[in-house]
Amino acid sequence: MFKFLIRALLSAALLGLYTNAFAAPIVIKFSHVVSENTPKGKGANMFKQLVEERLAGKVEVQVFPSAQLFGDADEIIALLKNDVQIIAPALSKFSKFTKVLQLYDLPFLFNDLNAVACFQDSPPGKEMLDSMSSKGIKGLAYWHNGMKQLSAPVPLRTPDAAAGLKFRIMSSDVLQAQFQAVNANPQKLAFSEVYLALQTGQIDGQENTWSNIYSQKFFEVQPYFEESNHGLLDYMLITSQRFWKGLPDDIRTELEKIIMEVTDAVNGFASQENEDAKKLIMESGKTEIIQLTAEEKEKWRAAMKPVWDQFKGDIGAKYVEAAAACSK
Ligand code: SIN
Repeated sequence: MFKFLIRALLSAALLGLYTNAFAAPIVIKFSHVVSENTPKGKGANMFKQLVEERLAGKVEVQVFPSAQLFGDADEIIALLKNDVQIIAPALSKFSKFTKVLQLYDLPFLFNDLNAVACFQDSPPGKEMLDSMSSKGIKGLAYWHNGMKQLSAPVPLRTPDAAAGLKFRIMSSDVLQAQFQAVNANPQKLAFSEVYLALQTGQIDGQENTWSNIYSQKFFEVQPYFEESNHGLLDYMLITSQRFWKGLPDDIRTELEKIIMEVTDAVNGFASQENEDAKKLIMESGKTEIIQLTAEEKEKWRAAMKPVWDQFKGDIGAKYVEAAAACSK
């Protein structure tokens, strides 16, 4: 009887080892809409590389860049349906799930990425990572892209030059109000459709970071850019609560460590990526980059800043004040 028991226990243990050794790895699909040569594209690839080094055989990461798998309109729903496990949408694309993240779209809120980091590292900034937990979304980290620049078929030295022009915006009511404040005509459009819309004249202008402008070749179809730095394009790396909670503890802990490491790297190199992209755009000779004078920039600020009052109530004054304090 005793021998039988030992044999049964040994077979069960061996079977367990066998099953573990041959268990299929957990697959993490990471979908995004930008090119691989951008801060987010590089971050996604770095995440894949580190996971496959440190969790070899246990976790496999599949990265789908350039909206190959899901685009702006469907990626968050796909995440909630577990068709994809990690995405990093622009903070402007969450308004159906929370109003507080509209903060990040307020024009002229942040002077630069140092001010953004100052806020995101603060208690209110960190708190915002949990702003969609009641919707089943877990915020894992913030990733930087950079400050946005304006472009159009005409030089936009002052806001009156934008009046009547159609500008592509992300799906954000704050961005809509920002362009309405300068009497322009904002059009919500998916990122993957912007190049064609600019080329065919469906829209006149756009706002984006140098790295997106370069990698999407917007500079080939826009004769004038202004280094306006008027707004921010940053991301929240998210997963679904259901997927994250379902992971074995040791794997979740290792993934959290990797995400921290990749976040530090992305947020460290994002500025340089944008500077490099700007240089390549200038060297292309295909467009003109206009430097605004302090006076011109002040006119843009004065025209757009009233938008803050429209959204402060929805966002929460404490967040607006804490973020604004980082640019003082
Ligand atoms: C992105 O950087 O993910 C896309 C931003 C945009 O839609 O302009």
